[in-house]
Amino acid sequence: MAETILKVQDVVKTFGGLHAVNRVTFDLAEGEVMGLIGPNGAGKTTLFNVISGYYPPTQGRIHFKGQDVSGVPPYKLAAIGIGRTFQVVKPFPGLSVLENVIIAGLCRYGTRRASEKHAWKILDFTGLADQADKSAANLTLAGRKRLEISKALALEPSLLLLDEVVAGLNPTEADKTIELILKIKGFGISILIVEHIMRVIMNLSDRVVVLNFGQQIALGKPADVARDPMVIQAYFGEDAA
Ligand SMILES: Nc1ncnc2c1ncn2[C@@H]1O[C@H](COP(=O)(O)OP(=O)(O)OP(=O)(O)O)[C@@H](O)[C@H]1O
Ligand SMILES: [Mg+2]
Repeated sequence: MAETILKVQDVVKTFGGLHAVNRVTFDLAEGEVMGLIGPNGAGKTTLFNVISGYYPPTQGRIHFKGQDVSGVPPYKLAAIGIGRTFQVVKPFPGLSVLENVIIAGLCRYGTRRASEKHAWKILDFTGLADQADKSAANLTLAGRKRLEISKALALEPSLLLLDEVVAGLNPTEADKTIELILKIKGFGISILIVEHIMRVIMNLSDRVVVLNFGQQIALGKPADVARDPMVIQAYFGEDAA
Protein backbone atom coordinates (compact mmCIF):
# COMPACT_ATOMS: atom_id res chain seq x y z
CA MET A 1 0.00 0.00 0.00
CA ALA A 2 1.21 3.47 -0.87
CA GLU A 3 1.65 5.95 1.96
CA THR A 4 -1.03 8.54 2.59
CA ILE A 5 0.16 11.96 1.43
CA LEU A 6 -2.94 13.99 2.25
CA LYS A 7 -5.56 13.48 4.92
CA VAL A 8 -8.68 15.65 4.81
CA GLN A 9 -10.57 15.08 8.03
CA ASP A 10 -14.06 16.37 8.66
CA VAL A 11 -13.24 19.71 7.03
CA VAL A 12 -15.78 22.54 7.23
CA LYS A 13 -15.44 26.02 5.71
CA THR A 14 -18.20 28.53 6.30
CA PHE A 15 -18.72 32.01 4.85
CA GLY A 16 -21.11 33.69 7.28
CA GLY A 17 -24.00 31.25 7.52
CA LEU A 18 -23.09 29.36 4.32
CA HIS A 19 -21.42 25.97 4.70
CA ALA A 20 -19.38 26.08 1.48
CA VAL A 21 -17.56 22.89 2.54
CA ASN A 22 -19.36 20.73 5.06
CA ARG A 23 -17.60 17.81 6.76
CA VAL A 24 -15.47 16.48 3.94
CA THR A 25 -13.24 13.49 4.71
CA PHE A 26 -10.90 11.54 2.44
CA ASP A 27 -7.31 10.33 2.14
CA LEU A 28 -5.11 10.64 -0.90
CA ALA A 29 -2.38 8.03 -1.39
CA GLU A 30 1.05 8.90 -2.75
CA GLY A 31 0.90 8.84 -6.55
CA GLU A 32 -2.89 8.72 -6.61
CA VAL A 33 -5.08 10.91 -8.82
CA MET A 34 -8.32 11.90 -7.09
CA GLY A 35 -11.08 13.62 -9.04
CA LEU A 36 -13.14 16.22 -7.20
CA ILE A 37 -16.48 16.85 -8.86
CA GLY A 38 -19.85 18.38 -8.11
CA PRO A 39 -22.29 20.93 -9.54
CA ASN A 40 -21.46 24.67 -9.67
CA GLY A 41 -21.09 26.11 -6.19
CA ALA A 42 -20.61 22.67 -4.60
CA GLY A 43 -17.49 23.83 -2.74
CA LYS A 44 -14.69 22.38 -4.89
CA THR A 45 -12.60 25.54 -5.22
CA THR A 46 -13.22 26.41 -1.57
CA LEU A 47 -11.88 22.99 -0.56
CA PHE A 48 -8.78 23.64 -2.73
CA ASN A 49 -8.39 26.99 -1.00
CA VAL A 50 -8.50 25.30 2.40
CA ILE A 51 -6.06 22.52 1.42
CA SER A 52 -3.61 25.02 -0.11
CA GLY A 53 -3.83 27.35 2.92
CA TYR A 54 -5.77 30.31 1.48
CA TYR A 55 -8.42 29.80 4.16
CA PRO A 56 -7.98 28.06 7.49
CA PRO A 57 -10.65 25.37 7.94
CA THR A 58 -13.54 26.51 10.15
CA GLN A 59 -13.48 22.98 11.57
CA GLY A 60 -11.57 19.78 10.87
CA ARG A 61 -7.93 19.06 10.08
CA ILE A 62 -5.65 18.74 7.06
CA HIS A 63 -2.58 16.53 7.32
CA PHE A 64 0.12 16.58 4.65
CA LYS A 65 2.88 13.96 4.81
CA GLY A 66 1.88 13.17 8.37
CA GLN A 67 2.08 16.77 9.55
CA ASP A 68 -0.92 18.80 10.70
CA VAL A 69 -0.95 21.74 8.27
CA SER A 70 -4.42 23.12 9.07
CA GLY A 71 -4.26 26.90 8.79
CA VAL A 72 -0.64 26.97 7.54
CA PRO A 73 -0.33 29.81 4.96
CA PRO A 74 0.02 29.11 1.21
CA TYR A 75 3.66 30.14 0.82
CA LYS A 76 4.71 27.68 3.54
CA LEU A 77 2.61 24.88 2.05
CA ALA A 78 4.06 25.62 -1.39
CA ALA A 79 7.54 25.33 0.08
CA ILE A 80 6.82 21.89 1.56
CA GLY A 81 5.27 20.54 -1.64
CA ILE A 82 1.65 21.58 -2.20
CA GLY A 83 1.30 23.18 -5.63
CA ARG A 84 -1.91 24.48 -7.17
CA THR A 85 -3.41 26.13 -10.21
CA PHE A 86 -6.17 28.74 -10.13
CA GLN A 87 -9.56 28.27 -11.80
CA VAL A 88 -9.32 31.87 -12.95
CA VAL A 89 -5.80 31.90 -14.37
CA LYS A 90 -3.55 34.52 -12.85
CA PRO A 91 -0.36 35.12 -14.85
CA PHE A 92 1.72 38.22 -14.12
CA PRO A 93 0.44 39.92 -17.29
CA GLY A 94 3.31 42.33 -17.97
CA LEU A 95 5.84 39.52 -17.85
CA SER A 96 6.85 36.88 -20.36
CA VAL A 97 5.91 33.23 -20.04
CA LEU A 98 9.47 32.40 -18.99
CA GLU A 99 9.57 35.20 -16.39
CA ASN A 100 6.30 33.96 -14.89
CA VAL A 101 7.78 30.52 -14.31
CA ILE A 102 11.09 31.94 -13.04
CA ILE A 103 9.26 34.00 -10.43
CA ALA A 104 7.09 31.07 -9.39
CA GLY A 105 10.24 29.02 -8.75
CA LEU A 106 12.37 31.73 -7.11
CA CYS A 107 11.62 30.81 -3.52
CA ARG A 108 12.58 27.21 -4.26
CA TYR A 109 15.74 27.83 -6.25
CA GLY A 110 17.03 30.90 -4.46
CA THR A 111 18.69 32.61 -7.40
CA ARG A 112 17.21 33.85 -10.64
CA ARG A 113 19.81 31.92 -12.56
CA ALA A 114 18.95 28.60 -10.96
CA SER A 115 15.24 29.26 -11.29
CA GLU A 116 15.63 30.17 -14.97
CA LYS A 117 17.49 26.96 -15.71
CA HIS A 118 14.72 24.99 -14.10
CA ALA A 119 12.00 27.10 -15.78
CA TRP A 120 13.30 26.08 -19.23
CA LYS A 121 13.03 22.43 -18.29
CA ILE A 122 9.46 22.94 -17.16
CA LEU A 123 8.49 24.84 -20.31
CA ASP A 124 9.97 22.05 -22.43
CA PHE A 125 7.92 19.59 -20.45
CA THR A 126 4.65 21.53 -20.66
CA GLY A 127 5.12 22.40 -24.34
CA LEU A 128 5.47 26.16 -23.88
CA ALA A 129 9.19 26.52 -24.58
CA ASP A 130 8.59 27.97 -28.06
CA GLN A 131 6.45 30.70 -26.48
CA ALA A 132 8.80 31.47 -23.60
CA ASP A 133 9.43 35.07 -24.66
CA LYS A 134 5.82 35.87 -25.39
CA SER A 135 3.97 38.13 -22.97
CA ALA A 136 1.80 35.95 -20.73
CA ALA A 137 -1.14 38.22 -21.51
CA ASN A 138 -0.94 37.25 -25.20
CA LEU A 139 -1.26 33.51 -24.71
CA THR A 140 -4.40 31.69 -25.79
CA LEU A 141 -6.59 30.22 -23.04
CA ALA A 142 -4.94 26.82 -23.60
CA GLY A 143 -1.54 28.51 -23.25
CA ARG A 144 -2.55 30.32 -20.07
CA LYS A 145 -3.81 27.06 -18.54
CA ARG A 146 -0.48 25.40 -19.41
CA LEU A 147 1.32 28.36 -17.86
CA GLU A 148 -0.70 27.82 -14.65
CA ILE A 149 0.45 24.21 -14.60
CA SER A 150 4.03 25.29 -15.35
CA LYS A 151 4.01 27.78 -12.46
CA ALA A 152 2.63 25.15 -10.09
CA LEU A 153 5.34 22.70 -11.22
CA ALA A 154 8.07 25.28 -10.65
CA LEU A 155 8.01 24.48 -6.94
CA GLU A 156 8.43 20.74 -7.60
CA PRO A 157 5.29 19.82 -5.70
CA SER A 158 4.60 16.34 -4.40
CA LEU A 159 0.89 17.16 -4.36
CA LEU A 160 -0.66 19.12 -7.21
CA LEU A 161 -4.15 20.65 -7.07
CA LEU A 162 -5.57 21.29 -10.56
CA ASP A 163 -8.69 23.48 -10.72
CA GLU A 164 -10.39 23.18 -14.12
CA VAL A 165 -7.26 23.17 -16.26
CA VAL A 166 -9.12 21.47 -19.12
CA ALA A 167 -12.40 23.44 -19.01
CA GLY A 168 -12.84 25.76 -21.99
CA LEU A 169 -10.30 24.01 -24.22
CA ASN A 170 -11.17 22.48 -27.59
CA PRO A 171 -11.00 18.65 -27.83
CA THR A 172 -7.47 18.60 -29.29
CA GLU A 173 -6.11 20.97 -26.64
CA ALA A 174 -8.02 19.02 -23.98
CA ASP A 175 -6.38 15.76 -25.08
CA LYS A 176 -2.94 17.39 -24.95
CA THR A 177 -3.59 18.60 -21.42
CA ILE A 178 -4.86 15.17 -20.33
CA GLU A 179 -1.63 13.69 -21.72
CA LEU A 180 0.37 16.27 -19.78
CA ILE A 181 -1.45 15.41 -16.55
CA LEU A 182 -0.76 11.71 -17.15
CA LYS A 183 2.94 12.50 -17.59
CA ILE A 184 2.88 14.43 -14.29
CA LYS A 185 1.22 11.44 -12.66
CA GLY A 186 3.98 9.28 -14.17
CA PHE A 187 6.50 11.14 -12.01
CA GLY A 188 4.63 9.89 -8.95
CA ILE A 189 3.14 13.29 -8.12
CA SER A 190 -0.18 12.97 -6.29
CA ILE A 191 -2.97 14.94 -7.93
CA LEU A 192 -6.31 16.31 -6.84
CA ILE A 193 -8.21 17.46 -9.90
CA VAL A 194 -11.41 19.49 -10.24
CA GLU A 195 -13.04 19.27 -13.63
CA HIS A 196 -16.57 19.47 -14.99
CA ILE A 197 -15.76 17.44 -18.10
CA MET A 198 -16.59 13.84 -17.14
CA ARG A 199 -14.38 12.35 -19.84
CA VAL A 200 -11.39 13.98 -18.16
CA ILE A 201 -12.34 12.78 -14.69
CA MET A 202 -13.09 9.25 -15.91
CA ASN A 203 -9.80 9.00 -17.84
CA LEU A 204 -7.52 10.40 -15.19
CA SER A 205 -8.86 9.57 -11.75
CA ASP A 206 -8.08 6.54 -9.65
CA ARG A 207 -10.92 7.59 -7.35
CA VAL A 208 -13.47 10.40 -7.27
CA VAL A 209 -14.96 12.50 -4.46
CA VAL A 210 -18.33 14.13 -5.16
CA LEU A 211 -19.51 17.28 -3.39
CA ASN A 212 -23.00 18.75 -3.45
CA PHE A 213 -23.86 21.89 -1.47
CA GLY A 214 -20.58 21.45 0.40
CA GLN A 215 -21.31 17.89 1.47
CA GLN A 216 -19.47 14.80 0.36
CA ILE A 217 -22.11 12.60 -1.24
CA ALA A 218 -19.90 9.91 -2.79
CA LEU A 219 -16.33 8.58 -2.81
CA GLY A 220 -15.10 5.70 -4.91
CA LYS A 221 -13.92 4.41 -8.25
CA PRO A 222 -15.02 6.55 -11.22
CA ALA A 223 -17.31 3.91 -12.71
CA ASP A 224 -19.07 3.28 -9.38
CA VAL A 225 -19.49 6.98 -8.64
CA ALA A 226 -20.93 7.59 -12.12
CA ARG A 227 -23.81 5.22 -11.47
CA ASP A 228 -24.44 6.25 -7.87
CA PRO A 229 -28.09 7.45 -7.64
CA MET A 230 -27.17 10.29 -5.24
CA VAL A 231 -24.62 11.58 -7.75
CA ILE A 232 -27.01 11.30 -10.69
CA GLN A 233 -29.63 13.17 -8.70
CA ALA A 234 -27.18 15.93 -7.75
CA TYR A 235 -26.29 16.48 -11.40
CA PHE A 236 -29.60 15.96 -13.13
CA GLY A 237 -32.24 16.64 -10.47
CA GLU A 238 -35.03 14.66 -8.85
CA ASP A 239 -36.38 13.05 -12.01
CA ALA A 240 -33.15 11.41 -13.07
CA ALA A 241 -32.57 9.33 -9.93
N1 LIG B 1 -14.95 34.15 -0.57
C1 LIG B 1 -16.23 33.77 -0.50
N2 LIG B 1 -17.14 34.47 0.24
C2 LIG B 1 -18.42 34.07 0.33
N3 LIG B 1 -18.93 33.00 -0.30
C3 LIG B 1 -18.07 32.26 -1.05
C4 LIG B 1 -16.70 32.62 -1.20
N4 LIG B 1 -16.10 31.70 -2.00
C5 LIG B 1 -17.07 30.84 -2.36
N5 LIG B 1 -18.24 31.17 -1.79
C6 LIG B 1 -19.50 30.42 -1.92
O1 LIG B 1 -19.24 29.10 -1.50
C7 LIG B 1 -19.93 28.15 -2.31
C8 LIG B 1 -18.94 27.21 -2.95
O2 LIG B 1 -18.21 27.93 -3.93
P1 LIG B 1 -17.00 27.29 -4.75
O3 LIG B 1 -16.39 28.36 -5.56
O4 LIG B 1 -16.10 26.57 -3.81
O5 LIG B 1 -17.77 26.24 -5.66
P2 LIG B 1 -17.21 25.35 -6.85
O6 LIG B 1 -17.64 23.94 -6.56
O7 LIG B 1 -15.77 25.58 -7.08
O8 LIG B 1 -18.08 25.89 -8.08
P3 LIG B 1 -17.70 26.03 -9.67
O9 LIG B 1 -17.91 24.66 -10.24
O10 LIG B 1 -18.72 26.99 -10.17
O11 LIG B 1 -16.31 26.52 -9.78
C9 LIG B 1 -20.74 28.98 -3.31
O12 LIG B 1 -22.04 29.13 -2.79
C10 LIG B 1 -20.00 30.30 -3.36
O13 LIG B 1 -20.86 31.36 -3.69
MG1 LIG C 1 -14.66 26.28 -8.64
